[in-house]
Amino acid sequence: MTTLELMEQNALSELQSASTGEELEAWHQEYLGRKGALTLFMRTIGSLPADERPLVGQAANSLRQVLEQRHQEREAAVKLTELAVGLERESVDVTLPGRRPVTGRLHPITQTLRRIYAIFGEMGFQVFDAREVETDLYNFGLLNMPPHHPARDMWDTFYISDTALLRTHTSPGQIHAMRAYYPQPIRVILPGRCHRYEQVTARSDSMFYQVEGLAVGHGITMADLKGVLGSFTRQLFGPERQMRFRSSYFPFTEPSVEVDMDCTICSGDGCRVCKQSGWVEIGGAGVVHPTVLRNGGYDPEEFSGFAFGMGIERMAMLLHGIDDIRYFYSNDLRFLRQFGRLM
Ligand code: DAH
Repeated sequence: MTTLELMEQNALSELQSASTGEELEAWHQEYLGRKGALTLFMRTIGSLPADERPLVGQAANSLRQVLEQRHQEREAAVKLTELAVGLERESVDVTLPGRRPVTGRLHPITQTLRRIYAIFGEMGFQVFDAREVETDLYNFGLLNMPPHHPARDMWDTFYISDTALLRTHTSPGQIHAMRAYYPQPIRVILPGRCHRYEQVTARSDSMFYQVEGLAVGHGITMADLKGVLGSFTRQLFGPERQMRFRSSYFPFTEPSVEVDMDCTICSGDGCRVCKQSGWVEIGGAGVVHPTVLRNGGYDPEEFSGFAFGMGIERMAMLLHGIDDIRYFYSNDLRFLRQFGRLM
């Protein structure tokens, strides 16, 4: 009986310190397995004096029951602990602040272009896409500047080959539009990139955007041009804006003008942006030259039209008070992030 009591004490205290499935299994082998301590003990009962056997036998049996029972309980407890430890290890702190996804936004020039499309769209002008790589013929020749015409000097050109070039203005799109629309009346704007072989400064870049406009129909005059451009500047820059035409020269229009708007920065008082003049130039324009109409397929006896071309970076600079054109294409996010998300 003393052996059994000692065995019970030892077994239970060892069981308490078993903390993994493997240790529990080993413990079970040690006491209750085929060669376990209790099993071996029970085999010796038969050699005890007959009067002691029932008592010792009973005690041994109940110890086996107790040990099996406690083993099961311990096993359940260990499993629970292992589960808890595993959960703890894989846990996620749902109270941590998330990472905010970075949202892109439209480039300020794209935003400006979209506002321009919307304003001209309301006046019935459709967007017409023309090519950025042009031929000498379209960029100059068909615009009333045959080879060696001195006016070609107004545009310093990146040539790609003897006949191909990067367009220096969006005006060649006028010919493409006329040839596509003939003989219908035309109201289009032609946006796009232009390139000039020029020094890059705060005021001019070698790549920039223009929006060209062209209207061709019956009885179209300079007054229509003035009305359309006046309405446009007031819608883009505010109803109080003033506009003026200055007489000028372009080979593809006659008469030709340069279009100025009173400076949005100083409202005409004179500042750095308008070079103290109170006026900023927003583009060139005029009545389409008969030769250009003819090159587009339209008979100048029957049709007339107006055209204009304006620089988009200049408009965006006036809209946002930006004083250096180079910001637009230097891809500095600190600059780009200042402009609203969508238009
Ligand atoms: N193409 C001219 C330039 O880039 C601007 C221009 C002037 C466009 C008069 C026109 C126009 O359509 O009629 O300097």
